[in-house]
Amino acid sequence: MNIPQPFQYQGSKRSLAPRILDHLPRKMARLVEPFAGSGAISLACAGKGRSREYWLNDLNRPLSELLSMIVNQPKKISDFYQSIWHDRDTGHLEHYYTVRDEFNRTNDPKLLLYLLARCVKGAIRYNSDGNFNQSPDKRRLGTNPERMHTNITTVSMLLQGKSIFTSQDFRDVFSSIRKDDVVYMDPPYQGTCRTRDHRYLSGILFDDFVAGLDHLNQKGIRYLISYDGRLGDKSYGKQLPDCLDLVLIEIEAGRSTQATLLGQDAVTIESLYLSRSLVEEVGVDSTYLPRRSSEQTHLLEEPARYV
Ligand SMILES: C[S@@+](CC[C@H](N)C(=O)[O-])C[C@H]1O[C@@H](n2cnc3c(N)ncnc32)[C@H](O)[C@@H]1O
Repeated sequence: MNIPQPFQYQGSKRSLAPRILDHLPRKMARLVEPFAGSGAISLACAGKGRSREYWLNDLNRPLSELLSMIVNQPKKISDFYQSIWHDRDTGHLEHYYTVRDEFNRTNDPKLLLYLLARCVKGAIRYNSDGNFNQSPDKRRLGTNPERMHTNITTVSMLLQGKSIFTSQDFRDVFSSIRKDDVVYMDPPYQGTCRTRDHRYLSGILFDDFVAGLDHLNQKGIRYLISYDGRLGDKSYGKQLPDCLDLVLIEIEAGRSTQATLLGQDAVTIESLYLSRSLVEEVGVDSTYLPRRSSEQTHLLEEPARYV
């Protein structure tokens, strides 16, 4: 089954989902995504019937409400998108800015669907006042309403009746994790972090994240984390500490367009960290272990930007 995305979303794990799923249990009672974004991994699991229930959380409230609407009120959101998608008309750029202003006044999740479909790279950006300030993509018209309708209907079919949606900080989610949950985490990238302050993981405190993982370990929770990786020989982000007793594996995420343009032959590698209890259940194929584990221990201190 071809699993659509509910909306384009920068950082979506849709293309990596089949390889990430290789490291999750075959059958789960509930899959929890504390950093759900577009929910690519929950959707991929639902497409294969891997979990009975899903909990999708994202701190971004309109985003979480949008996902919930897509799943629980597919006709309403699909009809709304059709009514707001004026891109064949002239003046569609002005239309985008009008919708953006209205979204910033109301935080209406329905408007966010249009903005995500039309904005540059599906990348959510807010200014210091908390207003969405991403520009429209001038070369693309965004998903047409017929395609959007099909995507929404399929996403709804996959998750309706078995999913809950919340908008909490990841620490609150961690404190409600049950013993039989499996947790997939895709926290904000350090690599795209603008600050050089090492305490932060682009918005979340690194130490808070590590403390939360330690708490999950104490409860014996099975979890899997997508984490910054490397491009060719260059590594991104700070490693998770040894005291968490995690197993690091690497998966190829394809060639970097930017590196190819620069004449380099670099492949982007994504890191996955598996909790000990997950490894005990699913095992690890040794071909996934980092080939240069000695280098992995001295990753760059400075968080650098992904190209
Ligand atoms: C890398 S994206 C996840 C992408 C997702 N895996 C997908 O396939 O679309 C990280 C998400 O974490 C959310 N986030 C950032 N800080 C958070 C926090 N403190 N608690 C929960 N979610 C947070 C962001 O809004 C963002 O959607």
